[in-house]
Amino acid sequence: MPKDPDNVQSRGPRHVAIIMDGNGRWAQARGRPRLYGHHAGARRVREVVEACPSLGIKYLTIFAFSTENWKRTQVEVAGLMSLFRRYIVKEARNLAASGVRVRFIGDRVRLDAKLVELMDMLEAETAGNDGVHLTIALNYGGRDEVARATKRLARDVAEGRLRPEDVDEETLPKYLDTRVLPDPDLVIRTSGEARISNFLLWQSAYSEYEFVDTLWPDFTAAELELLCKSYGSRERRFGAVPA
Ligand code: IPE
Ligand code: IPE
Ligand code: MG
Repeated sequence: MPKDPDNVQSRGPRHVAIIMDGNGRWAQARGRPRLYGHHAGARRVREVVEACPSLGIKYLTIFAFSTENWKRTQVEVAGLMSLFRRYIVKEARNLAASGVRVRFIGDRVRLDAKLVELMDMLEAETAGNDGVHLTIALNYGGRDEVARATKRLARDVAEGRLRPEDVDEETLPKYLDTRVLPDPDLVIRTSGEARISNFLLWQSAYSEYEFVDTLWPDFTAAELELLCKSYGSRERRFGAVPA
């Protein structure tokens, strides 16, 4: 019997991406400030990451902060940035010891130097791991990612490293932040909103979607398992007619 979890659940999603939404409403329902919900939300991440191996999930990508989230109040943005720093410091040892490989996607230019230093540290510390590949989207926007990728691609053309006639569907993804990741098989959004809010626009062209009402701080490994099972019964066609 192969021990490789990829073979155990061959019909389950190999790459799950999650739009972790609903922290603010979860806090409001308890009469607490929005940041209380963000802290509760951050605590859910560990259980979800730990559930991945037994569900055959090799890649987990989570949306933590979008390029549009800067529009929130200064108090909320500063609180979130502080939470991200604390999360990395608190979780680094456990993630590294659990064989998790952490990557960050998004534009780091607008993030503060201390946070970027911690992100680099966590990526470096887990670079040798090959368990769950956890990608955290932080100051990430799909349109921003495509724009940054196009800028790099245009530079390669201008400097003679790439010919315009060679640009095709295989070329652009090599310039995206996600260049080393497979496309997500399943994208989950919590909180009842049925929109993708600028998440993985290029990569999710053929992903399956699940929109669930659960607010992110209430999301559990058991719910993830149910969604993976339901994914297993879906028929993915990629534009073809089933045989
Ligand atoms: C998601 O929860 C977390 C972030 C966007 C950072 P929200 O903060 O969007 O929560 P709601 O949607 O207002 O309930
Ligand atoms: C998407 O949620 C971003 C994250 C979960 C980090 P938002 O709450 O920002 O999305 P909208 O504003 O409802 O579309
Ligand atoms: Mg929201």
